[in-house]
Amino acid sequence: MSDAILEIENFSGGFMSPAGEYNQVLHDVGYCLPRGAMTAVVGETGSGKSITALAVLGLQAPTFRHRTGSIRFDGTEMLNLDARGLRDIRGSRISMVFQDARAALNPVFSIGRQLADTWMLHNGGSRAAAMDKAVDALRQVHIPEPERRARQYPHEFSGGMAQRAMIAMAALICTPELLILDEPTTGLDVTTQADIMELIVDLAQSRGLTVCLITHDLGVVAETCDHVVVMNKGCVVETGTTEQIFTAPQDAYTRKLLAASLLTEYSA
Ligand SMILES: Nc1ncnc2c1ncn2[C@@H]1O[C@H](COP(=O)(O)OP(=O)(O)OP(=O)(O)O)[C@@H](O)[C@H]1O
Ligand SMILES: [Mg+2]
Repeated sequence: MSDAILEIENFSGGFMSPAGEYNQVLHDVGYCLPRGAMTAVVGETGSGKSITALAVLGLQAPTFRHRTGSIRFDGTEMLNLDARGLRDIRGSRISMVFQDARAALNPVFSIGRQLADTWMLHNGGSRAAAMDKAVDALRQVHIPEPERRARQYPHEFSGGMAQRAMIAMAALICTPELLILDEPTTGLDVTTQADIMELIVDLAQSRGLTVCLITHDLGVVAETCDHVVVMNKGCVVETGTTEQIFTAPQDAYTRKLLAASLLTEYSA
């Protein structure tokens, strides 16, 4: 068995415009996620980080067409799975915290109800037992007064709390082997960002998760990730261990990204 849980090879695709024109956005994307490690995917806005991650779960927009390539999860070709095959893997083996976590929560149901429903979908059992699970998951992601908070609705949660609730859903209510986090700390204040990253690292270590962290924050990458994938304009320009990428970047774009991040840190 390969020591990579996910292997993306030569993955190319793009979107159909309403006029029926094909616009390619991913060009032979390829990267691996080593089992049990934390891998960062970095690159400027529009480089294809989210589209690639969504394609892993078969959640790309209906106008997306893939033209070439392969996405293997633990040996299974994801691109060949039908809707049912994808549903069997989503949530139970791979879960994802989306770029806009709050939008992924349903505004008309309480947070506890949403966690409980997802628990029941995967595990069955009674609603009361699922609610206990939901409260327990909120407690584990350090949401204060979890019993009371479970009865609240998404608009009553702060951005940081909504993010924690989504992490509880993705990592504790679902019990995946691979957790994909798309910009989990963007838009949060610095202290909350640090707390959320600590939570993610703790969960990953205690549960032996493989983590794919999509982020703009190279400081977070340096502190938490083992491997780095650098994307630019729909291509992977460089991959390596975090140490290799930070100390001996090979690609000009990686060097530019590192220099820009240092400038921001000095000016902050
Ligand atoms: N539904 C869509 N229809 C058409 N084009 C899209 C769609 N979604 C994304 N794109 C285009 O695909 C490219 C890659 O988008 P993607 O969301 O993967 O970027 P990203 O690297 O995640 O950027 P960011 O850091 O801003 O989240 C962009 O040029 C984007 O405009
Ligand atoms: Mg994105």
